[in-house]
Amino acid sequence: MAIYPELKGRVAVVTGAAQGIGASTVREFAQQGALVALLDIDAAGAQKVADEINGSRTLYVRTDVTDDKSVTDALARVASEFGGIDILVNSAGGYGKLTGVEELPVDDWDRTVTLNLRGTFLMCKRAIPYLKKSKAGRIINVSSISGRTLFGSTSPAYAASKAGVIQLTRFLAIELGPSGITSNSIAPITTLTPRVRALRTEANIEQIASTIPLRRLPDPEDHANAMVFLASDSAAYLNGVALDINGGRILM
Ligand SMILES: NC(=O)c1ccc[n+]([C@@H]2O[C@H](COP(=O)([O-])OP(=O)(O)OC[C@H]3O[C@@H](n4cnc5c(N)ncnc54)[C@H](O)[C@@H]3O)[C@@H](O)[C@H]2O)c1
Repeated sequence: MAIYPELKGRVAVVTGAAQGIGASTVREFAQQGALVALLDIDAAGAQKVADEINGSRTLYVRTDVTDDKSVTDALARVASEFGGIDILVNSAGGYGKLTGVEELPVDDWDRTVTLNLRGTFLMCKRAIPYLKKSKAGRIINVSSISGRTLFGSTSPAYAASKAGVIQLTRFLAIELGPSGITSNSIAPITTLTPRVRALRTEANIEQIASTIPLRRLPDPEDHANAMVFLASDSAAYLNGVALDINGGRILM
């Protein structure tokens, strides 16, 4: 694991922190010595992740990223307890039903787009005033390979909202660059989180892996490693990038 000494003492806010890529990102930032705020609707899950971490300060704030007041209050609490906010990672997201547009219930569309796009928008919007006070403000949004291209089964609401996350991030890169804040996104391929492992058979995982030049699916840590890099001073000149973390499966 690369160590970025400058991340020690910086304040990182991670949404979707109770499990999967978000939880792994929390652990990675904690290992860098950052102060980490875990924002999630799942109190028990997030508290468990926070409790695992020794030697670094963590704070769990129950947050619904789709709710403006919940987001505003959570960020105010983090800033007050940790003295500011330097890094925002938006990992809360999900996909709903894997069907075509014709069969997709309208409320499923609304829920998925609200979680992925409104949630990311609200978190970024309400974090901006704090990030502007940081000497190295960073926004890192978690998109998906489904927001970059289409193959295999996905949901139209998921694909459209994850493409929206990339374009929102680019907009922020231009808007916030003059304030010294960088905004980037990552676009993971299917990842071996505990949730994905539980949904797929070994044969299914091997079949997907066989289509990837690196012949394996990523672990959540592969994404967390990229996110600490994007938050570090080494990535100070990366702005508006959508980083494909897909083992070479799709080359854009
Ligand atoms: N796992 C994959 O294969 C994969 C691939 C590409 C992209 N992604 C993206 O990566 C991100 C993380 O994926 P994952 O598989 O680790 O997710 P996950 O489903 O394992 O965890 C999502 C977390 O978000 C939280 N959450 C859900 N709704 C919320 C809300 N309204 N407010 C706050 N928290 C909420 C959940 O409680 C959970 O802890 C998502 O944005 C997902 O779309 C995942």
